[in-house]
Amino acid sequence: MKILLTGGAGYIGSHTAVELLNSGHEVIIADNYSNSKPEIIDKIREITGKRIKAYEADCCEYNQMKQLLSNEKIDAVIHFAGYKAVGESVEKPLKYYRNNLDSAITMIELIKEFNITNFVFSSSATVYGDSAPPCDETMNTGCTNPYGWTKYMIEQIVRDVSVAWPEFSGVLLRYFNPIGAHKSGLIGEKNNGIPNNLMPYITKVASGELEKLSVFGCDYPTPDGTGVRDYIHVVDLAKGHVKAIEYAADNKGAEVINLGTGRGYSVLEIIKAFEKVNEININYKIVERRPGDIAEMCADARKAKRVLDWEAKESLEDMCKDSWRWEQNC
Ligand code: WQD
Repeated sequence: MKILLTGGAGYIGSHTAVELLNSGHEVIIADNYSNSKPEIIDKIREITGKRIKAYEADCCEYNQMKQLLSNEKIDAVIHFAGYKAVGESVEKPLKYYRNNLDSAITMIELIKEFNITNFVFSSSATVYGDSAPPCDETMNTGCTNPYGWTKYMIEQIVRDVSVAWPEFSGVLLRYFNPIGAHKSGLIGEKNNGIPNNLMPYITKVASGELEKLSVFGCDYPTPDGTGVRDYIHVVDLAKGHVKAIEYAADNKGAEVINLGTGRGYSVLEIIKAFEKVNEININYKIVERRPGDIAEMCADARKAKRVLDWEAKESLEDMCKDSWRWEQNC
């Protein structure tokens, strides 16, 4: 299939482009480079040895995207484009509602116009709010920040469109905590400024760019008191997208699927695993809890195995090793 990746130069999008190309699909990327760089496209070419076309385009711009879809005969769309910083979404909610909802609605309007029936949406486990783990797709959802609410609302839009347009196939992928990088060290998570997320912060401490990691709380009801999350290797996540878009092509309706490992690790476990596999000491201090954090989040990953015949394969050691290799190369 010829697949359009909106936001395809980003962290998850670029890794998905690699896996789609490796699986024999053709990939077109549309990205406004607001949170990524055009050089990523060359890295994807270097990794795969495949041709890939990229357009600098903003998914909120109907005419820009209409022109692209007129130029390219697209069979399916994976919609990654959107802002994703939880903290920023609390400070600037309208920026997030405008951009994330506008880009998604514009893309869905256009795929209807061009009769592109296969759609995958980059959603997030954040829609589970503070539901007790393991989270399965039938559980109630509810968000604790505007970023999460934009994901929740777009999921609902996709469900409603699938009712009004019977030929439409929409897969909603709820990511848990993606970390790691492609083993080539050529692509990975690029942060502008100080990282909010755990692993990019750890790798900056390992490189000496940052002095010490703050561990946000050690009084949670978890085995060692620190927050537990379901960390998933970004390459596993990317492979899940290949399965999802192929599933969309063979099915109709809206389908919600978790992409996680089903195994949670605490902050201290991540630190220890990183130190062990990379033979590096990570300087850290325990501080107060971060507002809005929950104690534990973990996937029930069985539906992805049942429906997509997909499961995460990379280990925590792989995630730590690949994260560090990327930090040293980027
Ligand atoms: C993980 C754990 C922190 C940084 C967020 C978004 C979510 C998704 C993934 C987009 C927690 C602890 C972190 C640090 C720390 N993004 N931590 N010190 O908050 O689970 O999820 O990113 O879809 O939507 O909410 O990820 O990496 O920020 O935190 O102790 O400097 O690490 O308290 O327990 P989070 P995270």
